Amino acid sequence: MGIGIDLGGTAIKGGLVNTQGQVLEERTKLTESHRGYQAILEDLVELINDLLEISPNETIVGIGIPGILSGDCGTIVSSPNLHWKNVALKKDLEVRLTQKVLLVNDATAACIAEASFGSIFKKANAMMITLGTGIGGGLILGHKIITGAHGVATEVGHMVMGENFYNCGCGKNGCLETFASATALVRYCDMRLKQGISSTLAKEKILNAKIIMDEAKAGDVLALEAVDRLAKYLGMAISNISDLVDPEIYAIGGGLAYAGDFLLDKIRTATMKYLTYPDFAVPEIVLAQLKNEAGIIGAANLSHYIITRK
Ligand code: BGC
Repeated sequence: MGIGIDLGGTAIKGGLVNTQGQVLEERTKLTESHRGYQAILEDLVELINDLLEISPNETIVGIGIPGILSGDCGTIVSSPNLHWKNVALKKDLEVRLTQKVLLVNDATAACIAEASFGSIFKKANAMMITLGTGIGGGLILGHKIITGAHGVATEVGHMVMGENFYNCGCGKNGCLETFASATALVRYCDMRLKQGISSTLAKEKILNAKIIMDEAKAGDVLALEAVDRLAKYLGMAISNISDLVDPEIYAIGGGLAYAGDFLLDKIRTATMKYLTYPDFAVPEIVLAQLKNEAGIIGAANLSHYIITRK
């Protein structure tokens, strides 16, 4: 068994995971990132202790974090959506717990889970893209997880795709995650509604990505425009990634992937439009299988892959 935690922009999820990748117990808290680092740190400790009460002999806790890590994987150097810079999470947790804490990027954790138990099982060259509050990436090349010289490899959410009407949490303008994340979908529809476009979305007090996806499926013109725009930018990004590292398969995960084939078909169509070699180098694009639990499962199974850069 192992303890895996997925520290996301919206929720902190933790679980006890067995060696077959099944989550046996799960606990969730809302992240509410505006509360700042100390409050979230204490919530993490509480959630881990809750899981330890059920399984007291655990010696390692794996945590997926939505940002990039220092070379020794101890410090979160930057997390655009939690608005953290240089926080020593590993040390801060280890003084409060008796377990050893291993940190990993959240999308890399999801990638490890899908490669160990899910949609990209045993694939040699595969890319995981998570579509949630932000956009994360995990890459396997030659059966190895790639994190790069500074840990920023596969930060696909921050590839610049063109100018956009709002800035990314990282401070730049034009990042993929401002075009194609759950946040981007909501921001785009809000912006278009303010321009006075007529849409069934106008009746909603607070928009969220699920409502927009559902309305797009029902044929609302604005919701469809927003989802098509999102798919277009993902297609561009996938074609760019293919030009660079040529994965045989892409797994699309994160909250937006719950839209299923409706979204996947649009992403596939957009990708075909932008691929450089659509006649012979077409990657498979599939839905991730482990859904919301991928981050937990991957974080609990870090020993399957060597991720430290030192
Ligand atoms: C961060 C990534 C993270 C992704 C998903 C991005 O903004 O830079 O490190 O994987 O969000 O949480």
